[in-house]
Amino acid sequence: MNAERIATLHVDGQEYKLPVLKPAIGPDAIDIRKLYKMANLFTFDPGFTSTAACDSTITFIDGEAGELLYRGYPVDELAEHSHFLEVCYLLLYGELPNQSQLDDFEHRVTMHTMVHDQMTYFFRGFRRDAHPMAIITGVMGAMSAFYHDSTDIADPEQREIASIRMIAKLPTIVAMAFKYSIGQPFVFPKNNLNYAANFLHMCFKVPTEKFTAAKAVSRALDRIFILHADHEQNASTSTVRLAGSSGANPFACIAAGIACLWGPAHGGANEACLLMLREIGSVDRIAEFIRRAKDPSDPFRLMGFGHRVYKNFDPRAKIMKQSADEILHELGDSDNSTLQVARELERIALEDEYFQERCLYPNVDFYSGIILDAVGFPTDMFTPIFALSRTVGWISQWKEMIADPDVKIGRPRQMYVGKRNRHYQPVKAR
Ligand code: CMC
Repeated sequence: MNAERIATLHVDGQEYKLPVLKPAIGPDAIDIRKLYKMANLFTFDPGFTSTAACDSTITFIDGEAGELLYRGYPVDELAEHSHFLEVCYLLLYGELPNQSQLDDFEHRVTMHTMVHDQMTYFFRGFRRDAHPMAIITGVMGAMSAFYHDSTDIADPEQREIASIRMIAKLPTIVAMAFKYSIGQPFVFPKNNLNYAANFLHMCFKVPTEKFTAAKAVSRALDRIFILHADHEQNASTSTVRLAGSSGANPFACIAAGIACLWGPAHGGANEACLLMLREIGSVDRIAEFIRRAKDPSDPFRLMGFGHRVYKNFDPRAKIMKQSADEILHELGDSDNSTLQVARELERIALEDEYFQERCLYPNVDFYSGIILDAVGFPTDMFTPIFALSRTVGWISQWKEMIADPDVKIGRPRQMYVGKRNRHYQPVKAR
């Protein structure tokens, strides 16, 4: 990236010249990499609100315009016309595949959907009532123990095999976590089904009954996968990059991403949102919850509302809302009470000064839970489904970082504000 402009920083009568880098789109960035050496100064930006930690060619968000691009393609076009594995190819390799590339990619993923048989014993070590996020974090980390032959990050072929393995096996692992938690036998993948239909099959098939996922349901799920596939340098992706910057193996890095995703401010919001909508229960209780969300002395927040980057609307939420309407209509549940509460809550919040002034809009998690609930998933499966969708994004970002010859271990600095110059006292003297 060339610097076309220079920023000048004045400190204590000294002048420091800093290059201003120009990305393909989005705000320019002041390059402060040499600042510490030049001026013995750090910048202070907890939460990275004004700091770009890397350059990337994968995903772009225009928070003001409410736009999300995967490799330059608007996510709404992809959600309407594409399907998840094609989007995976796009994120991983940078281009939409032609037919033979797509066939080959689908074949490679499909041939890796089974997991090592010993993994089933590993699952049995978890308590029955373990949260599936706890299980998949552990099992993903354990994949480096089951697939030693794809942990050498210096070998591009091993990186590729590890990537395909994770994309192929995560649905199987998530479905196994689900089956384990409800005491049903594991269901093997069925390779003649598409990615979403196969996942539904592994989750809802029981040995005694036939199961075929409704086309509308697998299409809605596929759309959820697409909308969650990547989201530039969010907390979990940054976690994956930071873990990967030390040279950790890919399974360990993605396990770190899954752990980070679990928090309610991030991927855990979809579960928290549905629980909130259920707690509200009926439209006449919405005012009370809005009041609580606005009260600075109450830690309660409207789950599924607000975003660090989107300050206009979240384009994923728009598609998700439409998808929720369609799927509930398809399932004959248009009067769904949770959807009614969600619609009314959105309407009231968007007309409220507090939410308007702070640019708080529904995010992707506001409607996704309603769809997953209607399909039959319990709330604790919502975040695992987010994790399986985001895996391709994490992998694409990790691969991009590993292939960058200039990559350095991630190592933020700090402002130390603790005690200084103290001396040890024996315990009796304290
Ligand atoms: N309900 C009520 N007030 C809110 C909310 C909310 N959901 N979100 C932000 N605010 C207020 C916040 O109290 C603050 O007000 P004030 O200026 O008076 O102190 C102001 O808006 C700015 O909030 P912030 O915490 O500085 O914003 P942030 O960019 O650090 O946080 C967020 C972004 C997504 C963590 C936050 O909006 C939030 O906690 N939302 C609820 C959880 C959620 O839905 N998360 C999913 C995010 S999208 C999926 C994903 O990427 O994982």
